[in-house]
Amino acid sequence: MTIKIAITNQKGGVGKTTTAVNLAAALSKAKRKVLLIDIDAQSNATSAAGISKNDCESLYEHFELKDKIDKYILDASGGYKIIPANPNLVATEKIIENTKEREKFFSKNLKLAKDYDYILVDCPPSLNLLTINAMEYCGSVLVPVQCEYYALEGLVTLKSTIEQLNDSRGLKIEIAAILRTMADWRNRLTREVSGQLEKHFKSKVLNTIIPRNVRLAEAPSYGQSIVDYDIKSIGGEAFLSLSGEFIRRFEHAKKKSA
Ligand SMILES: Nc1ncnc2c1ncn2[C@@H]1O[C@H](COP(=O)(O)OP(=O)(O)OP(=O)(O)O)[C@@H](O)[C@H]1O
Ligand SMILES: [Mg+2]
Repeated sequence: MTIKIAITNQKGGVGKTTTAVNLAAALSKAKRKVLLIDIDAQSNATSAAGISKNDCESLYEHFELKDKIDKYILDASGGYKIIPANPNLVATEKIIENTKEREKFFSKNLKLAKDYDYILVDCPPSLNLLTINAMEYCGSVLVPVQCEYYALEGLVTLKSTIEQLNDSRGLKIEIAAILRTMADWRNRLTREVSGQLEKHFKSKVLNTIIPRNVRLAEAPSYGQSIVDYDIKSIGGEAFLSLSGEFIRRFEHAKKKSA
């Protein structure tokens, strides 16, 4: 069974894409078969994977042409597969809007091979129809959170939006994990917010914490993941540790439920 996770936070710049591309690469390094889907028209995950957003097709073309998905699945520089994003993705909402049960459009129309160990989806910074579809398709959400003043508020809003969607539309979306990103322990706010997250969200908060590390910010400009760019940096080590925690948390849970 594939573990499917949408990487979501309606707040911009919290580390969604950094998490998506580096976690995908670290899981690939651990010999997992990973597919990353970029559904953000900004296409940052696509360029971080070494692919030009102006020179690729996205889910938009796939849904528009209703053709086989295989031709859209490309090799990313980090050793995983990717369905890239391009600026046309914005128009995908128009396609979905006019369908029945529009929150379930991905589930009905995205027919992917079943042999991936992980499917990760990098979402845009908004709870638009694409994001809702990604959350419904995956069932599980990973929320990267920057330990800043409004982080907790944003997370509470996301949680209640998901609960409302589940109730009103009959969906089964779950916040599976919360990842603290861009942490700087010298900063009092990082320590305070990190503690508040643990208090409110308990075991949902992952043990691995992604530190603020310039190597993580540099890697995408070389079209590389941190695993290839500088695995020995503190950012590289954090993502290796995150992939280990993912494997323990999600693969073991899967075995137990099987
Ligand atoms: N741990 C980190 N250390 C240093 N810089 C980071 C770290 N994580 C992310 N960044 C930088 O912060 C910026 C925002 O990160 P990223 O693009 O991953 O966020 P995002 O949530 O995907 O943003 P958006 O909402 O626009 O999609 C980027 O320039 C990225 O390189
Ligand atoms: Mg992003």
